[in-house]
Amino acid sequence: MDRKTFLYRASCAACLAGMGGIGTWLSSCGTGIKPFVEIDKKVRNVEIPFSAWDNNPVVVIARKGANNIAVTRKNNVYKAVALRCTHQGAGLKVKGEEFTCPLHGSKFSWEGKVLTGPAKEPLTTYDFQTGEGKIILQIREIT
Ligand code: FES
Repeated sequence: MDRKTFLYRASCAACLAGMGGIGTWLSSCGTGIKPFVEIDKKVRNVEIPFSAWDNNPVVVIARKGANNIAVTRKNNVYKAVALRCTHQGAGLKVKGEEFTCPLHGSKFSWEGKVLTGPAKEPLTTYDFQTGEGKIILQIREIT
């Protein structure tokens, strides 16, 4: 583990231990925005009402023990991507219309394309169905 990785992990551990546990982690050590919902990693389908995007173009699904997921809406087009960096697996933050990696600086578009390395591979994407007033996100494991 290099120094930057150690410091990143240590800061998140300190956040969990010293600032009140998972509730604090959700708002400060994760993606940078409050999640819409927190689910177990075994959950495979999540219904998200269209109203979830009324005040924010990014809806975050926090997953216990697995990568978080961002579902973005732009011009009524939805995209769902894993908030896990494809370089060394760090959790990504939401910054404007990009996802940024706090570990080595990679940046990704809302579609998951690499904008800035060192990451070379795009983010994992998820499928979803559109239902009456909602989308149904379909989650599969990332290998
Ligand atoms: S883990 Fe290295 S850039 Fe994200």
